[in-house]
Amino acid sequence: MVVSASAIASKAGSDVLAAGGNAVDAAIATGLALAVTYPTAGNIGGGGFMVIRFPDGRTTALDFREKAPAAATPTMFLDEKGEYSSTIHHNSHIAVGVPGTVAGFALAHEKYGSAAWRDLVEPSVRLASDGFVIPTGLANSLSGALRKLGRYPASVAAYYKNDSTPYAEGDTLVLADLGRTLERIRDNGRDGFYTGETARLIAEEMKNGGGLITEADLAAYQAAEREAVVGTYRGYDIISMPPPSSGGVAMVEMLNILEGFDVAAGGHNGARHVHLMAESMRRAFRDRAQHIGDPDFVTVPVERLTSKEYAAELRATIDSTRATKSAVTDLVADWESDETTHYSVVDKDGMAVSVTYTLEAGYGMGAVVAGAGFLMNNEMGDFNGKPGLTDSTGLIGTAANVARPGKRMLSSMSPAIVAKDGKVIAVVGSPGGRTIINTVLQVIVNLIDFEMPIQAAVDAPRFHHQWLPDRLSIEADGVSPDVLAAIEGMGHTVRMGGRQGTAHSLAVDPTTGVRTGAPDKRDRDAGAAGH
Ligand code: DON
Repeated sequence: MVVSASAIASKAGSDVLAAGGNAVDAAIATGLALAVTYPTAGNIGGGGFMVIRFPDGRTTALDFREKAPAAATPTMFLDEKGEYSSTIHHNSHIAVGVPGTVAGFALAHEKYGSAAWRDLVEPSVRLASDGFVIPTGLANSLSGALRKLGRYPASVAAYYKNDSTPYAEGDTLVLADLGRTLERIRDNGRDGFYTGETARLIAEEMKNGGGLITEADLAAYQAAEREAVVGTYRGYDIISMPPPSSGGVAMVEMLNILEGFDVAAGGHNGARHVHLMAESMRRAFRDRAQHIGDPDFVTVPVERLTSKEYAAELRATIDSTRATKSAVTDLVADWESDETTHYSVVDKDGMAVSVTYTLEAGYGMGAVVAGAGFLMNNEMGDFNGKPGLTDSTGLIGTAANVARPGKRMLSSMSPAIVAKDGKVIAVVGSPGGRTIINTVLQVIVNLIDFEMPIQAAVDAPRFHHQWLPDRLSIEADGVSPDVLAAIEGMGHTVRMGGRQGTAHSLAVDPTTGVRTGAPDKRDRDAGAAGH
């Protein structure tokens, strides 16, 4: 079973499973297909994380997060007057991190794949070179993205008609340059991206656009294998991503706090449920801001943050009837878009793979690498903007996450796997910047505390608190007017509306082994494919 933001890409992964490939093989094929059919976040020009649970219960985590190029410095996002520049930080060639996705997939294949590499890349070569029929969501998305992509001729040439107007649903989109880049990856593995023609084209694009990445940066990029964060919640194992993601640590910290409360008493999205969750979120996000960065550069107290003892200390500070106030120092950035993507895979043997990867903003920084046909990320925007500058507009300047050569920027991506009694129960994850951690938390709590089937757990309205700004955001119609009044009465500042994440998940019935895919309807083109 494969569940992703693109039904076409899910089918590409499911075909690999049907041909005898394992879940890692299918995850690679799905990820490469998403780079063609879901360009807002599917990528080879970005990075991400893959969490794996093997049928024998072992777990691992692959880190293919982008890295800062060798020329990066903590003050690289300041303009010539020394002022912080949001444009440089998020919206320029300087905002591009050295991509990790192809190295991550190559590492995953080398260590844990079973099929031939070229058979995993070929489906995406075909989709790009022969074209595919544009589904509703992509047509709408590309139409909306014209303003952003329209600034770059290579982006317009790739994604719009010859007269620069958007394609309609049902048109066929051919991505010829991308097809050729994928062929190089098919034939030469990671070298097809990090050296030779593709690397040359990236370096040239950087030079022309004022970016920093060189061929040497590309050749030096390495994906890393890390120990997954593993916690427990009411007898379930929770497996997720360690630093440089904050996701696994924060999620386990929140679950540990919640374990001491009867979360379900009072009903789903009732005042008690929302309040206790929000107070746990507030505390975990404070720790995230204070402590978490690239573990190759800073020491992150993972053990303490994920311990039951620490959770008990935090739980003791929660009043079940009153909101705490977040302190106004150390403000957390409020800048985050909603354009990453998560997909979930399980194979016949119970190998489970949970992948979240991203270009950071929708369509990344908007520029296609001329001649190579793929979009570049703007992930450098996840580094702190200016060392020491922490202000009310939402910038943070703490040391853990300033840019350094070769460093990975802090992430919130939280690909997760839930297991019980030695068996996989669910594969979960979501996009949504900082909201990711809370979205995944809620799907898990919906499954365990509220005993919801997976689709209901995904569909249920969600909410988010990130310590600062001190505000509880709730999806439109997420709570009743009575509950809203009760929550506000406890002292929460509430903002209702919008949508939170797209959590393409799956569940495995521990008794029958039946796999149930749960695409998130918040994503138009999403789909599950099994065989
Ligand atoms: O790594 C991160 O946490 C962010 N760059 C993810 C961005 C994101 O989720 C945007 N969209 N959904």
